[in-house]
Amino acid sequence: MTLDKPYKDIPGTTIYDAEQARKGYNLNQFAMSLMKPENRERFLADQSAYLDEWNLNPVQKQAVLDMDMNTMIAEGGNIYFLAKIGATHGMSFQQMAGSMTGMTEAAYRDMMVGGGRRPEGNRLKDLDGWTPPSNEKAQTMRPDAPAKFTSALFTSHVPAIGAAMDLGKTEEPYWKRVFDGYEWTRKWAKDNAPDVVILVYNDHATAFDASIIPTFVLGTGAEYPVADEGYGPRPVPDVKGYPEFAAHLAQSIIQDDFDLTLVNEMVVDHGLTVPLSLTYGELGPDEQWPTRVIPLAVNVVQYPVPSARRCYELGKALRRAIDKWDGEELNVQIWGTGGMSHQLQGPRAGLINKEWDNAFLDHLIADPLGLTEWPHMEYVDEAGSEGIELVDWLIARGAMDDQFQGGEPVVDHRFYHVPASNTAVGHLVISNPAAPHLSEPASAGANPEETTE
Ligand code: DHB
Ligand code: FE
Repeated sequence: MTLDKPYKDIPGTTIYDAEQARKGYNLNQFAMSLMKPENRERFLADQSAYLDEWNLNPVQKQAVLDMDMNTMIAEGGNIYFLAKIGATHGMSFQQMAGSMTGMTEAAYRDMMVGGGRRPEGNRLKDLDGWTPPSNEKAQTMRPDAPAKFTSALFTSHVPAIGAAMDLGKTEEPYWKRVFDGYEWTRKWAKDNAPDVVILVYNDHATAFDASIIPTFVLGTGAEYPVADEGYGPRPVPDVKGYPEFAAHLAQSIIQDDFDLTLVNEMVVDHGLTVPLSLTYGELGPDEQWPTRVIPLAVNVVQYPVPSARRCYELGKALRRAIDKWDGEELNVQIWGTGGMSHQLQGPRAGLINKEWDNAFLDHLIADPLGLTEWPHMEYVDEAGSEGIELVDWLIARGAMDDQFQGGEPVVDHRFYHVPASNTAVGHLVISNPAAPHLSEPASAGANPEETTE
């Protein structure tokens, strides 16, 4: 069940993957800094002092000082980053490549002029006993996988909910009606802190501006600062990531034909922090969230946005990736955030469609595959332009046991309320059959008349 990395066996070759990138992060970022003339000047004036600004490990630092590119590559460097170091020393790509072969510069140049290195004897397929790995996608769950996907949590992430908490307004009647719907969840969350939450949300022109529009972003970093969205950063803890598990997920999901954007450094906005606050309550900036978080951001700002079907399929790839983990035992939750119906723009602002929202919840629970056939237009037309956020929810649902021939999920909690700010608040906790359940029945919170019928 370990990940397929057949490229590791190719003779004389190091492939720069997420694992290598993690090892070489500081080395590569140092190399990138040499794209500025003033940094090249400072580096050449005192290499050791300049390198000390970049937190390299001792092997990496010595390799840079020795211009030992093989060691830099082994230590996670990538040739296109390292080329900036070579360029700073006035080396050509041919000199850099040749320096790693054990040949003299002249001999390497002559070899290239003579037609280059022949592949015979230098290929993986020339090695005895090598067979290509199979590329089949698992359609069933892996029994006894060390990482267990236990529960899916879905919730709106309205920024005003975070502001109500930050400003101490949760007991005001308007807000109490919202927070009552999360009372069950807070109790459940106390006994069910997972080791990691894969938190699906959408960035709201916060970490990503008009210069870059990635469709699916997986956070592979160690830490994510809370964004300042114009009101100052929310007074809540920064978010701790889980780089090893995230790199594993990235490797598996991309090999599963899903193209992700991997991000090591980004701020996180209300889409990610408000669900954490709703679930874990008031925590100050010096405290810690009770779980590590792997952010998974979906573009729903600029069209075209991914379809519900595509999000569901990403969920399936995500589950295969979770099942392939061979590290420590993990309790994994996947959250889907955003929605429900809301429109924040134009003369139709304020649109709420209670019937459609509840039909969405019904189908999410009982008929997720059918739900994937609802087109974008349906979300926008029925649930408002910003109701499109609901496609985020399909990812967690696609990863559940029943989509891999396992048992159907248990509905632990369901809540629906209008309004919070401009939005209909929807909230659902559903769990795979083997997950622990709170003994209380699935409830509708303290205001049953306001919840789904
Ligand atoms: C509101 C809701 C959102 O999901 C969001 O991202 C921004 C604002 C609102 O209802 O005000
Ligand atoms: Fe939103």
